[in-house]
Amino acid sequence: MTSNDRRALLRFLAASPLLAGSWPFAKAAGTAPRLTSAAEALDVFELRDLAQQLVPPAHWGYLQSGVDGDVTLRANEAAFSRYELRGRRFVDVSHVDLSTTVLGTHVASPVFYCPIGSLRAFHPDGELAVAAAAKARGALQILSTQSSYSLEAVTAARGAPVWFQLYTTNRFEVTRKLLKRAESAGCPVVAVTVDLPAGRNTETAARLRREDTRDCSACHTVDAHGNPRLNLAAEPMFQGIDTHGLALTSPSLTWDFIKRLKDATTLKVVIKGIEAGADAELAVEHGADGIIVSNHGGRALESGRATLESLPEVVRGAAGRIPVLMDGGVRRGTDVYKALALGASAVGIGRPYAWGLAAFGQSGVERVLEILNLEFRLAMVGCGARSVREISADSIIARG
Ligand SMILES: Cc1cc2nc3c(=O)[nH]c(=O)nc-3n(C[C@H](O)[C@H](O)[C@H](O)COP(=O)(O)O)c2cc1C
Repeated sequence: MTSNDRRALLRFLAASPLLAGSWPFAKAAGTAPRLTSAAEALDVFELRDLAQQLVPPAHWGYLQSGVDGDVTLRANEAAFSRYELRGRRFVDVSHVDLSTTVLGTHVASPVFYCPIGSLRAFHPDGELAVAAAAKARGALQILSTQSSYSLEAVTAARGAPVWFQLYTTNRFEVTRKLLKRAESAGCPVVAVTVDLPAGRNTETAARLRREDTRDCSACHTVDAHGNPRLNLAAEPMFQGIDTHGLALTSPSLTWDFIKRLKDATTLKVVIKGIEAGADAELAVEHGADGIIVSNHGGRALESGRATLESLPEVVRGAAGRIPVLMDGGVRRGTDVYKALALGASAVGIGRPYAWGLAAFGQSGVERVLEILNLEFRLAMVGCGARSVREISADSIIARG
């Protein structure tokens, strides 16, 4: 039986009322949607609930975790409900165009797939399925440094260059090698992630690992407690690189790093993980070509501000000189609309497409985008915006 057959069987069993016993079905008993195809999903939450049945607890914890008590994670999602939309009437909305161009990349809608490391933890096709979905939907995919498939394989599956997410590493000669590889793969943009300089406490992930009784040593190097260890030597993007003493990030970096990066590459440099207006100004000063307002999906600083709340001051700091993208907590098309109304040029999703991936592979990843785009389109219709350019702060109201 192939792993895809096994997943199909699991999905079938998960939908069966007869099986509500032990893991993986126990959690979702009575609550999980009975989906037999991605097309049946009504919203991204149905795919989440199905995914939870299919993904083993340790991997589910890796996906869902924030840090400490997950306060920032919850804030990201909750922030969207603090804004309301102002509907407009008698605008001819018979043609609504969701397409846009971000730093030279033309996309069918402003919703993009964020970088997520190790996507094979959720489906054997991992990043390749995301690439195929991005190709089918004309979407932007940003590939993680910690991808479980190589950049070259993903680019082939996408049929066009992707953007590459770069972890700075603690050795510039390695950073340079990663940049050269991204250049050779035709990536137009590198998104350098700067919000994780020195560790984090992913408590929810650790808690769910306790529930996982599998032997994980076949896929991970594990420590004495069975917890996975970072093993860069085994990762596709670090093949041919001496990983001895190598770390993904470094606590000692300062803004000079961005200048250094700009000097070392022909790619456009987008900084992922900006939250403050002052940092947006510094990003422009140091030559960044774009910004992604992000707090790593609530996986970096705890008790942080929701990215939607950070967005306006970052937009002011950038002052129209470079595009500002955002991610974090986007679960509905109206969330996409609100972020654009507050000045974002494009909006990233992380966990939602991983739910789709876990549930149905490529078609699940596609369905997530399709649902968000359908909802986003209806928000545009209701607010009388016929194109992404027509979405403005006029159509959003902050509550109280
Ligand atoms: C499981 C997981 C792994 C992630 N891995 C990376 C990564 O390798 N590089 C990175 O820049 N961001 C990473 N992120 C952060 C996402 O790119 C994105 O900022 C975040 O998921 C957006 O929030 P959302 O999940 O609420 O949509 C990861 C997020 C998750 C949930």
